[in-house]
Amino acid sequence: TNKTFTMIKPDAVADGHSGAIIKMIEEAGFRIVALKKTQLTAERAGQFYAVHAERPFYESLCTYMSSGPIIPIILEKENAVADFRTLIGATNPDNADEGTIRKLFAKSMQANAIHGSDSDENAQIEGSFFFGNVEQF
Ligand code: GTP
Ligand code: MG
Repeated sequence: TNKTFTMIKPDAVADGHSGAIIKMIEEAGFRIVALKKTQLTAERAGQFYAVHAERPFYESLCTYMSSGPIIPIILEKENAVADFRTLIGATNPDNADEGTIRKLFAKSMQANAIHGSDSDENAQIEGSFFFGNVEQF
């Protein structure tokens, strides 16, 4: 088994979709290792998305990601990172496959309901960002 990191983004939490999204995640075979509800400051959102600092949408992304509560989650499953990216669908919901979380719940390219780590290394870094560097994670 291995792990990935996700967070339910402010639009989906505010719209009351977290329960439906977590249900889809569990039905797809992922086990919850750690989960909480929290809110980022714009500065902390900037740290999380530092890789996008030079992109034109960076400031808007940080404002959006700090606009309301989020639900960060560490998940466990074989092939977790790749399988989770398949479950959530393309970044732009217009391009997301039918039945994916983003197809069902995303509002726009930016307010796209959910995050999924893009590598094992980033899953570890991003999980630690929210839950600390605990060995069991
Ligand atoms: P994450 O799982 O959230 O990392 O999404 P991703 O890996 O599918 O996309 P990427 O890492 O490239 O971008 C991170 C986030 O920035 C996206 O999920 C969107 O919320 C936002 N984003 C990406 N591209 C754009 C864009 O062109 N415009 C705007 N406004 N937001 C974008
Ligand atoms: Mg990404």
